[in-house]
Amino acid sequence: MSLDVATVRADFPILKRLVRGKPLAYLDNAATTQKPRQVIEALVDFYERHNANVHRGVHTLSEEATNMVEASRAKTAKFIGAAKPETVIFTRNATESINLVAHAWARKFLRAGDEIVLTEMEHHSNIVPWQMLAKERGVVLKFVPVELDGTLDLEKVRATVGPKTKLFSFVAVSNALGTVNPVEAMIKIGKSVGATVLVDACQWAPHRTLDVSKWGADFVAFSAHKMLGPTGIGVLWGREDLLDAMDPFLGGGDMISRVTLEAATWNELPYKFEAGTPNIADAVAFGPALDYLSAVGLDAIRAHEDELAAKAVALLEASPSVFVLGPKDPARRSGVVSFNVAGLHPHDVGTIFDLEGVAVRVGHHCCQPLMHKLQCGGTARASFYLYNDESDVEALGRALKRTLDFFKIGAKAGVH
Ligand code: ALA
Repeated sequence: MSLDVATVRADFPILKRLVRGKPLAYLDNAATTQKPRQVIEALVDFYERHNANVHRGVHTLSEEATNMVEASRAKTAKFIGAAKPETVIFTRNATESINLVAHAWARKFLRAGDEIVLTEMEHHSNIVPWQMLAKERGVVLKFVPVELDGTLDLEKVRATVGPKTKLFSFVAVSNALGTVNPVEAMIKIGKSVGATVLVDACQWAPHRTLDVSKWGADFVAFSAHKMLGPTGIGVLWGREDLLDAMDPFLGGGDMISRVTLEAATWNELPYKFEAGTPNIADAVAFGPALDYLSAVGLDAIRAHEDELAAKAVALLEASPSVFVLGPKDPARRSGVVSFNVAGLHPHDVGTIFDLEGVAVRVGHHCCQPLMHKLQCGGTARASFYLYNDESDVEALGRALKRTLDFFKIGAKAGVH
């Protein structure tokens, strides 16, 4: 299966623009992805022809808007292998999805002394909500250590998860290093002690087939904007009985069944968790993003990214001044390539790269504890997606050369 990258690129208007006089080489896909015209047109079409509030009117536009949001929800459920669309909750982003679980599930069911297990490679969004909970409720946080090559050792997972573990929450693919974790084995370990398992699938869902039924986790969180969709739409998928047992996260309109001056009862799933006017247009435009990924095929996308990432790693490692972080085994790495140039701050690297039109993310990637463990303040990160091609790898090479030349690094190779 191969991907026709020229046809794909033609669907992304932004790829035609110049940055600092150079063709844009967009390699910041782990932060957010670009949008195909199908998604952009869906937004325009919604506002030009269907705009209305949902679940509130009997008028034609409101019914159309409601049906369009629900069609996107059904499409999302199908994309992730969820049997029921009502187990798909639309949130603002994966951060909000995780916070929803912290507020509506953990605050109801966890007690002082209960343990939550995380890993050292988590994004701040899967650390900070639990730290807030620990401070408030006295739950205990434990962390599976990360190996220096950026992987997790399943024996250490087994040693950290135990009888007191009530929640095991971990990232499927590291946004900072690209490490692909053994998700199914980790879920099994969590389940073997009776823990509830939450998977942060932000960097998995855009690139690999996600089948929540096969995984057997209890909650899965991800964001539309990292998979060709608009910003402002996140997903929390949850096991139906757990979602039913949870109290609401936010109170307000649409999440209720009946309200008196004294009390309220809750709406059915998923609306119990979608208080207030939702992000209607962006939910609608997420549908064509999923259609696009399905049409190209996740296997083809993954093979394409793996190939480009392998070329990028080879190119970077050809310089003795560059150190690539993360797993050496390509089978354990996604299309994320995190690296440092000896003696340079990643921000300086990113600034020179930008002069060549190359967009990479620099810094701690919202993973300060991981950076601390790896003893670096941050990295430069190139992350690939379906519309990247060889020209982007070549641009990366030119940007690296310009950086090395600018800072006269070649002459100092090996000294740092
Ligand atoms: N979590 C996003 C990233 O890794 C924003 O860049």
